[in-house]
Amino acid sequence: MNVVDTVRGLRAARAKLGSVALVPTMGNLHDGHLSLVRQAQAIGHPVAVSIFVNPLQFSPADDFNRYPRTLEEDCEKLRLVGCDLVFAPSPEEMYPSPQSFFVQPAPALADDLEGRARPGFFVGVCTVVLKLFSLVEPSDAIFGKKDYQQLLTIQEMTRQFGLGINIHAGETVREADGLARSSRNGYLSPAERAEAPFLYACLKDAAEQCRRGRTDFPAIEQAAAHALSGRSGWSPEYVVVRDRRTLGMPAAGHPMVVLAAARLGSTRLIDNLEV
Ligand code: PAF
Repeated sequence: MNVVDTVRGLRAARAKLGSVALVPTMGNLHDGHLSLVRQAQAIGHPVAVSIFVNPLQFSPADDFNRYPRTLEEDCEKLRLVGCDLVFAPSPEEMYPSPQSFFVQPAPALADDLEGRARPGFFVGVCTVVLKLFSLVEPSDAIFGKKDYQQLLTIQEMTRQFGLGINIHAGETVREADGLARSSRNGYLSPAERAEAPFLYACLKDAAEQCRRGRTDFPAIEQAAAHALSGRSGWSPEYVVVRDRRTLGMPAAGHPMVVLAAARLGSTRLIDNLEV
């Protein structure tokens, strides 16, 4: 496995590989990331993983400084899984001068839900992903469904800019108790960790109500948010039922997804479940 931290090194390594499938990450890799790598390998091309904690997608109130950086352990995991190339640039390598050109996604996708909670988040994500696409030149790229709105936003960006990259959706990997794997789970205290699967329980319950044919979506959403806020430690940000393809308002008979974000103590958790 080739590990490079410069654009020059990337270009040299990349030239030897032909088509590649890219798995963009911010590192601190867990089973969720590794399942994306395996999915990328199944496409049949060599697999490149980028590891970059992208400052552009963090607001000052976010956890950029404390976000876990574990490059050595990450490379060991990637070596074991048979990854071909790791691109792990420094912020200075990725942004040699302050970035002043940005990808501005459509407000309908980017200013709602995660975008409302984290202003500028999708501008930062799309800008870095476009840059990674242009540096790595993958034929395919894999993004997890855990970040459902991110996946849809990148699919739409790729389509609208005619980037010609196949975007694949990776299933969310969960702990045995249902908690979605996330690097931010490491922030949870033992008591919070024991409580955290309740978010998934709420999503399962809301999805089940929709599956049974209920169409009073605001009532379903409110009941789930109420269940969360009724327990100690939770501050729900949103629980919503949305159209699965557009994240617009749901319509009975169309595929739907239930999405939620909530703080448990000081840790922000997000999760979703397709109906
Ligand atoms: O999902 C992530 O880890 C990040 O948002 C991504 C896609 C790697 C862009 O920095």
